[in-house]
Amino acid sequence: MSRLPCTALALIALSGSHTALADCGLSVEVGDGLAYSTTSLATEASCETAKVTITHTGKLPAAAMGHNWVLARPDDFDAVTKAAIQAGLDANYVPDDERVLASSKIVGGGESDTVDVPVSTLGAGEYVFFCTFPGHWTVMKGTFTVS
Ligand code: CO
Repeated sequence: MSRLPCTALALIALSGSHTALADCGLSVEVGDGLAYSTTSLATEASCETAKVTITHTGKLPAAAMGHNWVLARPDDFDAVTKAAIQAGLDANYVPDDERVLASSKIVGGGESDTVDVPVSTLGAGEYVFFCTFPGHWTVMKGTFTVS
């Protein structure tokens, strides 16, 4: 929004259309290290379904340095990460568990995946996103805000 010229901002304000500002398509990059390109993502419930794309810009294969994007409520973080270890790489380290609100595949270097997040169903609030590759969630973690 800050990149829009003043005239565009004025038009948006005059239109009174709140949904026009909603960012329903989000993206996050990962690489050959233990980090997301951002630790804070935000969207709006009016999107109904938000799309989050995770792109691995590194070179290492998924088995060595794979990453995914998993969403849960903050209170469920510990339980989901523990269950993820049991799930294994073949299941993208994602447990079959209702506490997982959305999840991508594990991606390796050069790969990407897009996740549908049912934000209207989830409702407004703060959620946590993280990588469930074993050990990664201690540092690969961020906040997903639905307003
Ligand atoms: Co990871």
